[in-house]
Amino acid sequence: MSGPMLVFEPSGQRIYVSHATTVLDAARSLGLPIPTDCGGHGTCGKCRIKFQPAPFPTQRDLQHLSKDELAEGIRLACEHVIETDTRVVLPFPEEQAKILVWGSSKAAVQKLDKGLVGQLGVAIDLGTTTIVAYLMDLGTGSQIEQQAMLNPEVAYGEDIMTRMAYVMNAHEGGEELRQCVLRGIDVLLTRLISAAGVLPDTVSRISLVGNTAMHHLFLGLDIHGLSLAPYRPAMLKSLTKSSDEIGLKSVPKAQVYVAPNIEGFIGSDTVGLIVSQGLGSVKGTVMGIDIGTNAEIVLSVRGRLICCSAAAGPAFEGARIRLGMRGEEGAIEHVRINNPSEPAELSVIGQASPRGICGSAIVDIVAELLRTGLVDRTGRMRDSKRIVHEGGYGLCYIVAEPGESDAGRRIVFTQEDVRQVQLAKAAIATGAGVLMDECGVTSYDIDALLLAGAFGNYIRPESALAIGLLPAIPLDRIVPVGNAAGEGAKRFLLSLKERAVAETLSRSVKYVNLAAHPAFADRFLEATAIGQAGDGSNHSHVRIANHTSNP
Ligand code: FES
Repeated sequence: MSGPMLVFEPSGQRIYVSHATTVLDAARSLGLPIPTDCGGHGTCGKCRIKFQPAPFPTQRDLQHLSKDELAEGIRLACEHVIETDTRVVLPFPEEQAKILVWGSSKAAVQKLDKGLVGQLGVAIDLGTTTIVAYLMDLGTGSQIEQQAMLNPEVAYGEDIMTRMAYVMNAHEGGEELRQCVLRGIDVLLTRLISAAGVLPDTVSRISLVGNTAMHHLFLGLDIHGLSLAPYRPAMLKSLTKSSDEIGLKSVPKAQVYVAPNIEGFIGSDTVGLIVSQGLGSVKGTVMGIDIGTNAEIVLSVRGRLICCSAAAGPAFEGARIRLGMRGEEGAIEHVRINNPSEPAELSVIGQASPRGICGSAIVDIVAELLRTGLVDRTGRMRDSKRIVHEGGYGLCYIVAEPGESDAGRRIVFTQEDVRQVQLAKAAIATGAGVLMDECGVTSYDIDALLLAGAFGNYIRPESALAIGLLPAIPLDRIVPVGNAAGEGAKRFLLSLKERAVAETLSRSVKYVNLAAHPAFADRFLEATAIGQAGDGSNHSHVRIANHTSNP
């Protein structure tokens, strides 16, 4: 043991570090998820944690942190190397994160595999932000336990592109991230097994789904093809290996099935969505959307499947938004503006003071600013009592002043934040529009719109319709389906027949490379306006309902 000791609270995990190690690097090596948008370059201001004792602030600390935060000992984790024994407090323990675990499936699993009585399996949804694992009885098909965690790779960047840039620039970066995610999954599996009180050797199967980037990082595959247009994965086919070959230590006797990818960033998580929701056999027209940094969009017209991936960017995950954050304790999750001159009505996750804004509230804010006339359809903010100039950030809408709704500091939504939302929503609306064009259908033809994933589960559909994020359809046709990818992973765990369906569907889905589509540029430009395309107000059949329902 040489070098000073660094202790991470509240877990108490400790590490002896060399003098050149930043706190962010040390956290990464322990798999602790400190948020970062910039990958550790000191430009995003998201890696803030509390130091005891606090080092002298750097220029970047001064640039990103308020006087109060600096006085409290908050510093940027990527800016400080450890010179002396130090304790740091990760402000937002993982247990406070709101992770989506539930999911719904269209039909029962086809035929459980025989000869597996008494054996257990784990279905894993490896997401960019979270990892969810379900312990299943392979003999009966019933679920025994579930566990979730933040994907420890978030310490290398909240979004896929930042992580891939790290892999390509750092020596052995790919192996570093592979080990990071394997450690995380081992921790999750150990928790799962111990919560269920079963022996590791009884786990004989694992199935795993994820987008192609998560898939490649998990398997240690070359990601160069994914980092540049036309974004070709190195591997599409499914794969089965022993846990030992994969590098998982917690379940030594498991065979790991990694489901097939489709193309581009459309991975096996979308195959899970298609299979679990029965999109390959629908009678009418059904669209499924999983909104994340990349939104995966699938359209099924009488079972004929077409899909694309829309590069929405991380705005809806709270990243690149001035005071954006993940959906965890202290995040404002919903906003209602009753009077444009008065404080807004806020709903906050947990029993905490609001300290930032998560994705569902980000959509609400833009919808409410539009509804109350505080922004116009081009996204321009209008001067008003609650829209003021805030040093360096231009016009900002004041979501809360200190003291309002228990806020400890001013929480603002900036003009630039509105722009980020416009770009994100335009990407998704363009993707949905291009798929409808390709199939010769319009939003009037859509019988159901399935919203998969955490963001789709927590947003108010009426706000998403109001800003034009979703196609203009009646509100009652929008159905949150939760973690549909995880539901797919369960099917692939329990039944070889379901795996065969996945293999066939993954090859038959038509993939549209959105960025190369001839209609992309025009559609995107049109979709940057807030509201439904071509609308002075709204489509007549869209009910922009009151703000009482929460999916
Ligand atoms: S400022 Fe972006 S990771 Fe530290």
